[in-house]
Amino acid sequence: MNFKQRVITDLQAHVALSEEQIASLIERPKNAKLGDYAFPVFALAKIEHKNPVVIARDLAEKLSDPAFSQIQAVGPYVNFLIAHDCLVSETLHEVLTQQTAYGTQHIGSGNVPIDMSSPNIAKPMSMGHLRSTMIGNAIANILTKVGYTPIKINYLGDWGTQFGKLIYAYKTWGDEEAVKRDPINTLVKYYVEFHQKAEQDPSLDAQGRAWFKKLESGDKEALYLWRWFRDASLKEFKRIYGELDVHFDSITGESDFNDKMTPIISQLEDKHLLKTSQGAKIVDLGEDQNPALIQKSDGASLYITRDLAAAIYRKQKYDFVMSLYVVGNEQGEHFTQLKAVLKLMGYDWSDQIHHIPFGLITSGGKKLSTRKGNIIMLDKVLKDAVSLAHEQIAVKNPDLENADQVAHDVGVGAVVFHDLKNERLDNFDFDLKEVVRFEGDTGPYVQYTNARAQSILRKAKKPIELTSLALTDDAAFSVAKDLAEFPEIIKKSAERFEPSVIAKFALNLAKKFNKYYAKVKILSDDDQLNARLALVSATSLVLTESLRLLGVHAPQRM
Ligand code: ARG
Repeated sequence: MNFKQRVITDLQAHVALSEEQIASLIERPKNAKLGDYAFPVFALAKIEHKNPVVIARDLAEKLSDPAFSQIQAVGPYVNFLIAHDCLVSETLHEVLTQQTAYGTQHIGSGNVPIDMSSPNIAKPMSMGHLRSTMIGNAIANILTKVGYTPIKINYLGDWGTQFGKLIYAYKTWGDEEAVKRDPINTLVKYYVEFHQKAEQDPSLDAQGRAWFKKLESGDKEALYLWRWFRDASLKEFKRIYGELDVHFDSITGESDFNDKMTPIISQLEDKHLLKTSQGAKIVDLGEDQNPALIQKSDGASLYITRDLAAAIYRKQKYDFVMSLYVVGNEQGEHFTQLKAVLKLMGYDWSDQIHHIPFGLITSGGKKLSTRKGNIIMLDKVLKDAVSLAHEQIAVKNPDLENADQVAHDVGVGAVVFHDLKNERLDNFDFDLKEVVRFEGDTGPYVQYTNARAQSILRKAKKPIELTSLALTDDAAFSVAKDLAEFPEIIKKSAERFEPSVIAKFALNLAKKFNKYYAKVKILSDDDQLNARLALVSATSLVLTESLRLLGVHAPQRM
């Protein structure tokens, strides 16, 4: 039941304000002992020209509703205290009838392309790309839950001068067999070596640019090598996506927009937006912003040019209501420029483009960089996380069936959950041991709590009835109160594109449930057994659904 709506309805019968006005005035008192909702009467006092304290007192006397154990005037406020038994039984009834649809709601509809993951070929997928992948995936799940149709787009970084450098490096000192054996690591080694050598010999840069030029004009050899590097990289990426259980609706790349440059350039020219600066073509974005570099002096296209083409293509293809880009915070300027250029081109839908930035992952306090060789290998992180999970399961539950599958769900889930529980924009340090702990603010803790709830239900061997669901003790009430908030939590996380809202909610719910578990003998055979099992079942449902939205599996046993 929506208790806030109850408050509104109760008040509407007695005050001369509209439903919206009342709704906007209702507050949540900081001190929960005073009430769960408070209605300030200042607006009424103005209309009625009366003392607010008197109005509050008179109003409180007129109101009565069994959903509230107390409706009381405190100064110029009328406070409503939700009746514990009522909240518990109404909430459990709602969760258990709606099952996994609990929390599903309508906030909006329409297509929402989400540019996510988008790693660069010939480089290992980084922790940053993991963040983009998992935040994008969670946002897609959350948006689906509130009515939208997300389209998950992986826009590979597969075009640009760096591939000219790579082709030059491979042709000059590369080894075919080595690339075949271990493509990404070998190619990234060539790339790093290229930069080292270029420091000694600056002419290498020109060689790299020349090869990229060849690639852009369709040179056979350049294309052949590029395609080989791309396919080999994608194969490895796909293995990682398999581990993470993330699927895309579309895998494209910057290269797909290489041949769509000409119309963009001519549009910009027709609108007199292009200026020439030191041989390069730029769009001036006013005093407060750097100009956008659209075409290099040698005619080569740029990251932003390809993004312009891709953005226009997405609008045409998907007729989106919003277009999201889950990309690191450091690319903020790029997306500001992208939107600004589209706007100048006359595309008002540029306002529907949202950069969804996220913070940096560091290791031992240091920034990660492929070029400097300071990288965390995602592949290895996932493997290590799974073996750490294995170790802990072997101690906690040595006879567990499917231990491999569970260790996989727990290890990978731990890494993903860790990534999502941090506010998107926060920077954080990555320490695997912290991430895979079964206690503390971790994914395994939530999974373990859910498995514990499942085990209670198995032991009870009783179907749950949907009648007599009332519980009055504080521990049960605090669990049910969280359960009742789930729809609101989903809404908040959808509106802010912030999966951490759900991750934090799941952690709190798990903590409260464990308190309940420690305090109450759930399985004792008395007349509240059914209600307690209903609470356990509803908690497990909401925890599982929270994890699902985050893209984390919830094993039944662990
Ligand atoms: N490949 C880029 C990188 O790794 C991210 C691409 C983001 N998407 C976009 N449409 N620009 O930095």
